[in-house]
Amino acid sequence: MTTPIAPNFIATDIDLIKEAQGVLAVFVPEAGTLDATAKRVNRLSRGAVARLVESDGFSKLDEGKAIMLAYPVNMAAEGVIVVKLSRRPDVSSARKAGATLAKMAAGKELHVLCGNLRRAEEVALGIALRSYAFNDHFTKEDQAPGAVHVMVNAPDDVKAAGAAHGAIADGVFFTRDLVNEPANVLTTTEFADRLAELSALGLKVKVMEEAELEKLGMGSLLCVGQGSDSPSKVVVMEWMGGDKDDQPFALVGKGVVFDTGGISLKPAGGMEDMTMDMGGAGVVAGVMKTLAARKAKANVVGLVGLVENMPSGNAVRPGDVVASMKGDTIEVINTDAEGRLVLADVLWYAQETYNPIGMINLATLTGAIIIGLGHENAGVFSNNDALANAFLKAANAEEEGAWRMPMGKAYDDQLKSRVADMKNVGGRPAGSITAAQFLERFVKPETPWCHLDIAGVASLKTDSNFAPKGATGWGVRALNRLIADNFEGS
Ligand code: BES
Ligand code: MN
Ligand code: ZN
Repeated sequence: MTTPIAPNFIATDIDLIKEAQGVLAVFVPEAGTLDATAKRVNRLSRGAVARLVESDGFSKLDEGKAIMLAYPVNMAAEGVIVVKLSRRPDVSSARKAGATLAKMAAGKELHVLCGNLRRAEEVALGIALRSYAFNDHFTKEDQAPGAVHVMVNAPDDVKAAGAAHGAIADGVFFTRDLVNEPANVLTTTEFADRLAELSALGLKVKVMEEAELEKLGMGSLLCVGQGSDSPSKVVVMEWMGGDKDDQPFALVGKGVVFDTGGISLKPAGGMEDMTMDMGGAGVVAGVMKTLAARKAKANVVGLVGLVENMPSGNAVRPGDVVASMKGDTIEVINTDAEGRLVLADVLWYAQETYNPIGMINLATLTGAIIIGLGHENAGVFSNNDALANAFLKAANAEEEGAWRMPMGKAYDDQLKSRVADMKNVGGRPAGSITAAQFLERFVKPETPWCHLDIAGVASLKTDSNFAPKGATGWGVRALNRLIADNFEGS
């Protein structure tokens, strides 16, 4: 498990600057005025900060980016990072400045000299989020990262303003670890075990095994895992932090621990990426962890369908007809369109069991969404403008890219089957939309619902603002904010 660093907020102490070990950071706005701490560093280093600030390099820096002064004279520190940042930055710039620091400090002890800088707690969150590294499977012992001290004039106020940040980083890291974990480690059983451990935070966690899923009639979900030696499971995580009579909000995740495509086998090249095909379930788990860790005053239930899609003598075949829990029958044309088969039954179960006030599902559902939106935005599909707009607003505030996609009856018609109530694929045109139409058939018209297709954003081959390459944790912050802003009273 990767534990986020917990920044240590301390009162500004000018005398500490000379002796501080590791790396120091100061913030200088575009105009170049030095605050008291930057002035102190400047005086000690015989004017190095002022020279840097007057340089071409500083004037060309983007907001939130930085230049390192190496081995300044008269100071114990190995380096001083000079960050270009307004004294009153917006949340986004403050977090990006933090991410810049995390990258440049590279695990060394860090003293961040904020003084009266606004949003120092957001700088600290940026540092924590960008300090993630997935090191569980390297045999060489990695050095524990150095402590991060954030020096501010009013530590109690800053701590209070960032009270939820530890919980947010915990949730994001939990998601990233799950998504990065290889499929031989994160089997359906291991996944369920890790979720069961969340009960230590006060979540009620229930693991449903195959026999129970069969009794519920989840023929659609079960057919996906029937070729795997790992048993299919549905895990339900309840957080009842709100009024006990309030209907909960539901989060549903696709948890395909590995997607070979099944009998409709995927090509070998790149198949290893399908270890992230449980990304939707990973985000649901991360959000539930954050809500519990910050004791959210809302009722939220997280449900994940955990299966492995493998070819074998028992695997579901193209042309097979299965019956869903709802009762509708499905002709499985392509066993690689398995995520929607899993979600169909979990969505239905969520509504039948909890009658939720709203429901959002997340899934690495289609390659087509990557063709449409690339790696910048998740696809947002919805039957309810108010919920979709509330989500888009939260995602925008957290700078997690999200873009609304259309739905409609003409797309739904592509799912007509010759032998069953529907087939599981609608052909190449609008592949992401027909996948959403399939899901909508398992959503009651009166349930406000969003489907987030996160195939392009759950895991990246390049570094992003707040994560190194690999799992991003996309969506944990947006969904946490959606709950906080809309479902936690006033
Ligand atoms: N897990 C994949 C979608 C995916 C692709 C996720 C790339 C992340 C990166 C999904 O189960 C799948 O295989 N979808 C098929 C659907 C098709 C058979 C209709 C696809 O996108 O090709
Ligand atoms: Mn697939
Ligand atoms: Zn899949």
